[in-house]
Amino acid sequence: MKKAVIFDLDGVLVHTDRLHYTAWKELTGRLGIPFGQTVYRRLRGISRMDSLDIVLEAVPRDFSPEEKAALAAEKNEAYLALAAGLGPRDVAEDVRRALRGLRERGLLLAVGSSSRNAKYILERTGLAPCFDAVADGTMVTRAKPDPEVFLKAAALLGVSPGQALVVEDAAAGIKAARDGGFTAVAFGGDAVESLLAEHRVGTLTELLDLV
Ligand code: G6P
Ligand code: MG
Repeated sequence: MKKAVIFDLDGVLVHTDRLHYTAWKELTGRLGIPFGQTVYRRLRGISRMDSLDIVLEAVPRDFSPEEKAALAAEKNEAYLALAAGLGPRDVAEDVRRALRGLRERGLLLAVGSSSRNAKYILERTGLAPCFDAVADGTMVTRAKPDPEVFLKAAALLGVSPGQALVVEDAAAGIKAARDGGFTAVAFGGDAVESLLAEHRVGTLTELLDLV
C-alpha cells in the first residue's frame, strides 16, 4: 500500500518537454549546432547545465564558465517566452482525473523536477494547489539521475521512498527513482524503454490501479 505519488513535471504533468525542445532548437540554430530528437532524448530529465554540456559536445572547442552561463541564460529566456503562453488548458483531463482520484484515495502528492522553473510552470497552469510538496532544481545540488530531488520530495511529504511511487518520462528519472529506493512508473518519453521501470502506464489514470 503506497502513501504518496511523486510526479516529474516536464513531459508528465505538462508537455513543457516540447517547449524545452523548441528553446534548445532556437539556441542551437543560432549557433549552427546540429540538434534533433536524438540529442534531445539525452537531455530529458537532466539539469539545464548538464544539458548544455551535451549540446556543446558537437562544437570542437572549450567554452568558458561565463560563455556557458550566457548560453544557458539565452536558452532559458527562449523557454520562458514559450512558457508564458501556458495556462490551465494545457493540463490534460487525464492528469486532472488522476490527481483527483489519488487525492480521494488519501494519497499525498508531490512534484520532483530537475527544472528551476517548476514552481513557475505549476503556478501558470493552476496545478500548484494540487500538491502537498514541490522539490525542484533550485533545491538540490545533484540533478537526476541522482535521486536527490525525489528524496527531498519524500522528506517534505514525511514518507519513506518505499512508500512512494515516482512517475517519470525520462530514463534518467527512472534511474534516479530506483537508486533512491522508490517504485518507478514509466509514462511516455524514453522512460518506457528503461528496463529499470517497475510499471509502465499509457495514461496517468492507470496509476489508480497501482496504489
Ligand atoms: C526538466 C526537463 C529538462 C530540463 C530540466 C531543467 O527535467 O526534462 O529538459 O532541461 O528540467 O529545466 P530548467 O527549466 O531549469 O532549464
Ligand atoms: Mg520529464
